[in-house]
Amino acid sequence: MMNASSKISIERVSKYFGRGSDQVRALANIELNVKENEFVTLVGASGCGKSTLLRILSGLETIDDGAICVDGQAIDGPGVDRAMVFQHYSLYPWLTVRQNIQFSRRLKTNRRDLTSSAVEVASGRADALLRLMGLTHVADAYPNQLSGGMQQRTAIARALQGKPSILLMDEPFGALDAQTREVMHDLILHVHALEKTTIVFVTHDVEEAIYLGHRVVLMAPRPGRIDTIYDVPLPAVRNPEMKLAPEFTALKREILARIRETSGMKTDLATLEQLTRSAV
Ligand SMILES: Nc1ncnc2c1ncn2[C@@H]1O[C@H](COP(=O)(O)OP(=O)(O)OP(=O)(O)O)[C@@H](O)[C@H]1O
Ligand SMILES: [Mg+2]
Repeated sequence: MMNASSKISIERVSKYFGRGSDQVRALANIELNVKENEFVTLVGASGCGKSTLLRILSGLETIDDGAICVDGQAIDGPGVDRAMVFQHYSLYPWLTVRQNIQFSRRLKTNRRDLTSSAVEVASGRADALLRLMGLTHVADAYPNQLSGGMQQRTAIARALQGKPSILLMDEPFGALDAQTREVMHDLILHVHALEKTTIVFVTHDVEEAIYLGHRVVLMAPRPGRIDTIYDVPLPAVRNPEMKLAPEFTALKREILARIRETSGMKTDLATLEQLTRSAV
């Protein structure tokens, strides 16, 4: 249902890939409203359409049915109001950290109509983001000289450079080790509070989804759909201790059980068992 107070409103969105008997219903009748400055996390079995939904929100992918509005306006392709961060940092290896962050600005800088004060504002923001992300000391280094966590911080800084009101993140910390990931969690929560960004964040990690999200949206596959939406019963300001709280572990158990139930893995396992049995 159209909701005027929503930052993002997704109404009965469907998406198909392929044709005829090969056709995949990647998304079927997705309904979701995301409020301004909300942090929503998406979880669900592999293939349930999480990345597809995020790509649609970014404007990289079209929809076959339904509607998507941002600030009450139907989206029509990518826009500077929405920035995406992927699991693989997708930095330009031939540019330094600072140049990567300023890259889209640099394109605009080439336009003759851009004033020098606008360029100054952009480089001031890049400096602020370098500080925020703890990257000042590596500003002139190249991506291959950085750790995975630093590369991902650069990618987030680049996404934030254009002051997007919506940040779309597809398993952004999936390639990082557990300790670095914890640091990134508190960093992204800090960014979220500071920049008042609305965030839609895809992850395989249920603990990450609960720790970061105001709501956890559980999707299910074949067809890709929303199964359950969980409100996270934690105080607004998070700290890692909360992961040990009974309401945290109870919700984690509940979501994990539901993912298993909806994943179709049981049928896969049954098939595997049959195969193994027939092999002996
Ligand atoms: N470009 C494409 N062409 C054809 N089919 C696609 C395409 N992109 C996605 N699909 C199909 O759509 C479905 C949803 O894929 P999607 O990548 O969105 O899932 P996901 O939830 O992100 O999975 P994962 O957790 O493994 O990343 C899958 O069945 C996938 O095979
Ligand atoms: Mg995906």
